[in-house]
Amino acid sequence: MGAETQFRAIVVDKAADAEGNARQRAALRVVDDGFLMPGDVTIAVEYSSLNYKDALALLGRPGVARVWPLIAGVDLVGTVEASADVRWNPGDRVILTGAGSGENHHGGLAERARVAGDPLVRLPPNVSAAQAAAIGTAGFTAQLAVLALEHGGLTPASGPVLVTGGTGGVGSIAISLLARLGYEVHATTGRPEALGAYLRDLGATEIVERRVLASTGRPLQKQRWAGAIDSLGSSSLASVLAQMHANGVVAACGLAQGADLPTTVMPFILRGVSLIGINSVDASREQRERAWARLASDLDLEALDGLTTIIPLGDSLLAAEQILAGRHHGRTVVDVRG
Ligand SMILES: NC(=O)c1ccc[n+]([C@@H]2O[C@H](COP(=O)([O-])OP(=O)(O)OC[C@H]3O[C@@H](n4cnc5c(N)ncnc54)[C@H](OP(=O)(O)O)[C@@H]3O)[C@@H](O)[C@H]2O)c1
Repeated sequence: MGAETQFRAIVVDKAADAEGNARQRAALRVVDDGFLMPGDVTIAVEYSSLNYKDALALLGRPGVARVWPLIAGVDLVGTVEASADVRWNPGDRVILTGAGSGENHHGGLAERARVAGDPLVRLPPNVSAAQAAAIGTAGFTAQLAVLALEHGGLTPASGPVLVTGGTGGVGSIAISLLARLGYEVHATTGRPEALGAYLRDLGATEIVERRVLASTGRPLQKQRWAGAIDSLGSSSLASVLAQMHANGVVAACGLAQGADLPTTVMPFILRGVSLIGINSVDASREQRERAWARLASDLDLEALDGLTTIIPLGDSLLAAEQILAGRHHGRTVVDVRG
């Protein structure tokens, strides 16, 4: 093993604790190329990011890492070093989000990666590597949600659009995208005093306290929104569905409040509301290319810079704690060489 093949990585592994129970833990380790899994494209990684999912994996929560030991990180941006896939050449700057990275294949929280060529997307010329990582899975998901609302017939003339979990990664980028497209955007937060101004700066014109949606009310309520992008699930999503305009469109992205959905069929059969699921992990190549083209043209990159915090690789575990404690906002980019 040559010293040049060694690189730093955040590795999630399972080990027995004092009682003999298997515990999942993450640590910064130095590994070598032999540690990488098979893949057509070898990448010198520049940036990764921390999504809610990454925070779960880094703090030992089950359900994200499915093989061990595993390099964490669902996102990566870097430069191709070697490729057996004819679509990619050394020197190409590429983005990978999801597609199993950081779940069942080594991910982006490392200086090197070896991955399949199919889900890679070319870095758009007007977007820097750090900005692409700031977009990452969160921004890609927000864009897929916007495309789903458009597919469902929503236009800025339809009426206000609600973004729940507005201070989070998906929510922040969704607000910014929608506001730039001319929508009237409302956003929820549990921290209106601390982060109301942040949401308004992104383009939200009305702040909704998250506790207002948190308990399930009547199945049909006063109609408030023509569209919604939801990161929370559970009773919040049920409340959103109950307050949609006739023929309103809702994109369900997340489960920050819970995976349950205590609703009725009433919003669907009496108001014609549509609920569309967003799955960024398994998006097709065509969906990836379409979404990144829209992100490159529609997203306000200055606003993106304003909602991004860049940290070195070694600070990833600390930042993951902040995410799960609900003390962060916006996007956290990891400079894996830092
Ligand atoms: N479908 C997909 O492909 C996909 C892709 C990316 C993410 N996701 C999911 O989408 C969700 C959001 O991801 P993210 O990366 O944006 O997460 P994030 O940055 O942690 O943001 C989540 C936001 O939700 C709010 N929140 C947190 N805990 C809550 C609770 N118990 N009840 C109500 N609100 C709560 C917080 O806002 P306030 O404190 O301001 O209220 C927080 O900023 C996660 O569930 C994630 O797993 C899904």
